[in-house]
Amino acid sequence: MPNTFAEALDASLANFLDSVPIRYRWLLLQTLYTAASRRQGIAKLGIQPGSKGLDVGSGFGAMTMEIATAWSCQIDGVDHDPTMLEMARSLMGPMTWLQDKVRWIPGDILALPYPEQSQDFICTRFVLQHVPDPKRALQEMYRVLRPGGFVYIEDIDEGLVLQYPPAPPAWDRVLSAFSHLQQERGGDRQIGRKIPVWLAQTGFAVHTIEPQWMAEMTHLEHNDPAIQWEIERVALELDALYASHLLTPEEWQAGLETFRDQVATIAFQANASLQIRAHRA
Ligand SMILES: C[S@@+](CC[C@H](N)C(=O)[O-])C[C@H]1O[C@@H](n2cnc3c(N)ncnc32)[C@H](O)[C@@H]1O
Repeated sequence: MPNTFAEALDASLANFLDSVPIRYRWLLLQTLYTAASRRQGIAKLGIQPGSKGLDVGSGFGAMTMEIATAWSCQIDGVDHDPTMLEMARSLMGPMTWLQDKVRWIPGDILALPYPEQSQDFICTRFVLQHVPDPKRALQEMYRVLRPGGFVYIEDIDEGLVLQYPPAPPAWDRVLSAFSHLQQERGGDRQIGRKIPVWLAQTGFAVHTIEPQWMAEMTHLEHNDPAIQWEIERVALELDALYASHLLTPEEWQAGLETFRDQVATIAFQANASLQIRAHRA
């Protein structure tokens, strides 16, 4: 993929930061921070020119647009959130060469709006962890893929985390409540290890499972926006955390105090996502 496209996309995404509604800001930051793993995965896709496929749960559409550019294929970015689709459409606006390759389609991963055996490939990244019935999502992908077509999935597993020094217990408490809230909504932050098994049970032949590590040393200033953004990510869910009795206001305050001090020390952190490729026999 030409560097110029990646750079242009990163710049457009970064320009968006001040204008996106606050509840989408964390997703935008994630899209920027995880660009390296996304691009490593895309480079290995091996899509035949002229093929057609889907990027399901396309979010801001970075992966959708990068696949279309790298492999000169037809691809639909599919998402159940109309605001996400609108933002992806607006990001693509200036990239006129993508207009006849990429479409933005409303749709649910549990009921894809496509006929059987109609697609050559399906990608889905950081989506299954949020889906209440991920096995059914895999069955839907199987249904829509043509025989021989492939599925490419990237997702997280919170078992794949290294950190030193460890998070202070009070902040750990906040993060654990946050993770439980995702679980209560039907999500799963340990889904990475399960996907290959479920794929095989659905009838896919699993080819590769690659952990993609991201490691960094951090030494943030107290006023670094990254600290504010991390706090914001949890703060947006405070009402839900309190209502489901996963966290109390006192625990939130205690967590906040230790978090600000801790992130401003020198730290090492690494986490991995899993990139999984399988095909429909
Ligand atoms: C964490 S974002 C990932 C975005 C993008 N794939 C990426 O890697 O940057 C998850 C996306 O999946 C979408 N999503 C969640 N559940 C979905 C469902 N059941 N059907 C379709 N899209 C869904 C969300 O609206 C969001 O845009």
